[in-house]
Amino acid sequence: MRYYIGADLGTSALKLLLVDSCGKIVKMATKSYPVQYPRPAWSEQNPEDWWNAFLSGVNELVQDINPAEIAGIGVGGQMHGLVVLDENDNVIRPAILWNDGRTDKETDYLNSIIGKQKLSDLTANIAFAGFTAPKLLWLKNNEPENFSKICKIMLPKDYINYKLTGVHCTDYSDASGMLLLDVKNKCWSDEMLRICGIAEGQMPMLFESFEAVGTLLSEVASQLGLNENTKVVAGAGDNAAAAIGTGTVTDGKCNISLGTSGTVFISSNEFTVDQNNALHSFCHASGEYHLMACILSAASCNKWFCEDILKTEDYAAEQKSITDNDLGKNDVFFLPYLMGERSPINDTDARGVFVGLCMNTTRADMVQAVLEGVAFAIRDNVEIARAQGINITSSTLCGGGAKSELWQKILCNILNVEVLLLQTEQGPGYGAAMLAMVGCGEFAKPKECADKFVKVKKTMTPNTDISVRYEERYKKFKEIYPSMKELFKKIK
Ligand code: XUL
Repeated sequence: MRYYIGADLGTSALKLLLVDSCGKIVKMATKSYPVQYPRPAWSEQNPEDWWNAFLSGVNELVQDINPAEIAGIGVGGQMHGLVVLDENDNVIRPAILWNDGRTDKETDYLNSIIGKQKLSDLTANIAFAGFTAPKLLWLKNNEPENFSKICKIMLPKDYINYKLTGVHCTDYSDASGMLLLDVKNKCWSDEMLRICGIAEGQMPMLFESFEAVGTLLSEVASQLGLNENTKVVAGAGDNAAAAIGTGTVTDGKCNISLGTSGTVFISSNEFTVDQNNALHSFCHASGEYHLMACILSAASCNKWFCEDILKTEDYAAEQKSITDNDLGKNDVFFLPYLMGERSPINDTDARGVFVGLCMNTTRADMVQAVLEGVAFAIRDNVEIARAQGINITSSTLCGGGAKSELWQKILCNILNVEVLLLQTEQGPGYGAAMLAMVGCGEFAKPKECADKFVKVKKTMTPNTDISVRYEERYKKFKEIYPSMKELFKKIK
């Protein structure tokens, strides 16, 4: 039997899967690491923590199998994070993550002085605070000494691949989120590199996600207990990897992820740009393209409310009393902007809010409001896609939040779409393993692999009464942010 390792380098943990060549998940390992929030809206991680998690996770995963049977490794990872190495390959400073909001000045500079139209012409996207180019400008403006030391720039999962193979590389899906790639033509944009003061030699080599970039360095192979011939593919941004793992590879297919972030991912055979650039226009790990929207706090809102506020990790117990009859009838609203917001409002000053509390409000009402607030924020993005003529009528779901049947139901009815629940819910890790299979020649293309392995377990359809009630609630939700927008700026 041949085996593949699929890794999902998430924000809260690294999730590793051992998958056999028939697509069966044989073993899983999860290794957590901390996020540092050194200042409000800042969010950082230490790349060494990722690597240590990878080493211990792989060791655990491969304990009972013959290392020679592991043919390939694929890594999918949190996107946009800035990892910078000096001439001795040391990490210069902690990685600045995708949900970090420190770059509002640089983002404004790019969007207003360079101009949205020019950015869109060069990269198919405009600037959002979490993207990599504004982070490079921030480093240049605020930590010039660190900026001058940069020898290699990479994204989080590329750091793992670099440690594994010694090849400084990235893939088109993840590179798309840097705002440095000419997405349509799949090459670095000279003009964007110039704007950020970067030379092409500092940038990683570009590959398709399913292409092998190399094999394991011999010292790393022995550290991991693997064979030196194990191939490593370029991998993908976590959302593109999840799209492979959920079979979101044909034109117009949609996957929604409820992880730390919440994303709406729409696969597209052709390159397209949303005329207002509210949706990101990125390359897909399948070799094609996709449109995507991202809310910065999704399952993390529920985690925050349960763990930090209610002081419990028993999420199911908190949701138990909420029945179908309660859905669409909650008087409490929640704005889920705990880290500011990216799509569609692009506002680093936005914050989380409960609205409509009264003496009758219960703990369960607030839990429900958190789940609903995230679903409404996702709906805002589905509406943007619908306004572009993209008719989303069904979607797969993945991510930790998607395990809650209540949250599935809330999303299904708030979005008014059919929700497809899959047999394998390990989106990004599973997709990354599938990319490794393609790189090792098991399949010609990711789509072929997805067609074979991804199976729907259950289809959830909207309930007319509930979705009609939610339609009314959504109209009210939509009014909350605009009425608070100026206040958020004043209170920051
Ligand atoms: C996508 C995004 C997030 C991260 C989270 O644009 O920023 O989904 O990839 O891991």
